[in-house]
Amino acid sequence: MTAWKSLRWSSSVNSPAIPVPAPAASVSQAAYDGLVCCDATQKCEAVFGLARQIREGTLNMASAPDIEAVECPGRPARPRLVAPKDVARRSLTTEQGRAAFIHAITHIEFNAINLALDALYRFQGLPRAYYLDWSHVAQEEAQHFLMLQERLQQVGSHYGAFDAHNGLWDMAVKTRDSLVARMALVPRVLEARGLDVTPGMIQKLRAHGDGKTAEILEIILEQEIGHVAIGSRWFRYACEEQGLEPEPTFQRLLAQYYTGRVQKPLHLEARRKAGFSESELAALEKG
Ligand SMILES: [Fe+2]
Ligand SMILES: [Fe+2]
Repeated sequence: MTAWKSLRWSSSVNSPAIPVPAPAASVSQAAYDGLVCCDATQKCEAVFGLARQIREGTLNMASAPDIEAVECPGRPARPRLVAPKDVARRSLTTEQGRAAFIHAITHIEFNAINLALDALYRFQGLPRAYYLDWSHVAQEEAQHFLMLQERLQQVGSHYGAFDAHNGLWDMAVKTRDSLVARMALVPRVLEARGLDVTPGMIQKLRAHGDGKTAEILEIILEQEIGHVAIGSRWFRYACEEQGLEPEPTFQRLLAQYYTGRVQKPLHLEARRKAGFSESELAALEKG
């Protein structure tokens, strides 16, 4: 896909060429540019710019002529991607294990930036509120990534120092043709899993004397509730558009796309705030 030109030149026989502003870029183009950007810091900057422009209304909603599949979004040469079983052990009892633990969460946040950008790029022609919501998510994911990247440096490591796996992006590929499936599986299954496990991580970090990382995860947990709530909102919207009943549809999509079982215990309070109904929670508890 070609990048938008930043300047257009007008000229006439009698006057020299004068630069005039190019027409505003579209949300889909800006999201695509962020998605394929390989440098982590530049990707975060692209996200902050995109979110600001969407809030200010300076990006148009024109659809991209072709929506690319994006098998692999832009990422730095490191971390190397390996199978989940080959990722380093993350025991908090050693310095190395703690760095590997923080690195794993940093990588999740890096993936989460791409997932939010892909939600902005891929699903077009939706209400402006959708793009406001998902650019807000992208911005918070970029902030999560940067906070953890800084924390990694404080413990003597850096992003890319350990191998990582690509499990989160795999789900983006599987659900790329369906908004209803994407909203069900990415925010309401994968990000919701983060709500369940983060309180235990915070506790463990505190028990091992790492209050600084625990504090970052507390901020992330609070904001992730909002991400899952945004997923719930647009999942219901997509169901309504297609005349689908949300609750049976969620169960059907879970069975269709998710090979594992939803692990327990669930963080019920956080999931309620994030838009899960009592009957949905009961079905997940039983499954
Ligand atoms: Fe996050
Ligand atoms: Fe998130």
